[in-house]
Amino acid sequence: MSVLEGARVVLYVTGGIAAYKASDLASKLTQAGAEVDAVLSRAAEDFVGPLTFQALTQRAVYSAQTAMTAQNEIAHVRLANDADVLLVAPATANAIARLAHGQADDLGSAVALSMQAPIVVAPAMEPGMYANTATQDNLATLKKRGVRVIEPDSGRMASGAEGKGRLPETSVLLDVVRATLGRNGPLKDRVLVVSAGGTREYMDPVRFIGNPASGRQGVELARAAIERGAKTRLVLGSATVEPPAGVETQHVESAEEMLDALQQAVAGCDALIMNAAVGDYRPAATFDVKLKRGGEPAGIDLIENPDLLQSLQGEFLRVGFAAETNDHLENARNKLLGKELDALVVNDVAGSDTGFAAETNAATILRPDHPDLEIPLTSKAGVASAVLDVVVEMIGGR
Ligand SMILES: Cc1cc2nc3c(=O)[nH]c(=O)nc-3n(C[C@H](O)[C@H](O)[C@H](O)COP(=O)(O)O)c2cc1C
Repeated sequence: MSVLEGARVVLYVTGGIAAYKASDLASKLTQAGAEVDAVLSRAAEDFVGPLTFQALTQRAVYSAQTAMTAQNEIAHVRLANDADVLLVAPATANAIARLAHGQADDLGSAVALSMQAPIVVAPAMEPGMYANTATQDNLATLKKRGVRVIEPDSGRMASGAEGKGRLPETSVLLDVVRATLGRNGPLKDRVLVVSAGGTREYMDPVRFIGNPASGRQGVELARAAIERGAKTRLVLGSATVEPPAGVETQHVESAEEMLDALQQAVAGCDALIMNAAVGDYRPAATFDVKLKRGGEPAGIDLIENPDLLQSLQGEFLRVGFAAETNDHLENARNKLLGKELDALVVNDVAGSDTGFAAETNAATILRPDHPDLEIPLTSKAGVASAVLDVVVEMIGGR
């Protein structure tokens, strides 16, 4: 289960051009199961209407001047007491200044001043405003007080200027909220390493032997680890999805590069989850120049790649993933025992709704001396959550 389910989020929207993007944020938070109380500044209402947020969150929306709730409670006190997190997005330079100076001249800033729960601020403004020493000093003050500040993206601004100051993608903001809500989770102070994606073994500079792994399942495992408070390292091969915000990610291509990266990443870790689809073979020879049509080689000689799981041993838990297309449970049991794994997650990659490119997955978790745990068809996030719950249980016993 995601930490967003049932979480109380106060979304303080302030008056920047990116305020329209906050409606997507409110929608995605709500879809993920959060209860979102949107609070709009006076200027925000010039950019977006409260009705948008009311419809998307299916909850009352608060304006800058709201004093009392519908239940006749003092609005800033009630909202601050109920909140699990306050997210200021987009945060104007003006709002950042208000928060840094402890002003409480509208509902959102009064909530911020009354909060015990964590505060996350997502600045969005023209590059000049962002770079200004006043804004930077105010952000430094907020960070010093423990406020989590999300670095803005660089790119083209509404004015046409290029630079740093764009509100990051909704998915990034959601990941930071997840990490904030999960900061004291069951994997707090634990280090998890996840491998994800596919490998590419090049024959020449433009051709490779690879596989269609999207990286989605591994990225969801990293996200689930962060949600449980773990410091998470991701070693990511070829993939079509972005790594979650807040995860230390190292990009690799070949199996040997993946092994090197993992050998460094596992130093001091508590658990390794090997989800990557690692190629078993690579070309015996690689050519420095592109091979020409009609020329050699007539065949490709292959040599075996190192067995990554076998090579990565230590004091940490080892969880493998087995992508099987036939006799999968039988093969997997042999693998579990043969490689002395703590758990093996078996999925049938031949199915159209469980395969490499699918959005969904189903799996069986095998553990020595434990009954098999079936995870029926669900999202890859759902499978990740079930696997991480097993990791939490295993780590708890150590
Ligand atoms: C068209 C327009 C766009 C603006 N965009 C931004 C912006 O992206 N970021 C920002 O910090 N301020 C922006 N401002 C300035 C803020 O709206 C102004 O500082 C306002 O007082 C902010 O109030 P608030 O912090 O209470 O929402 C913009 C102003 C206008 C007129």
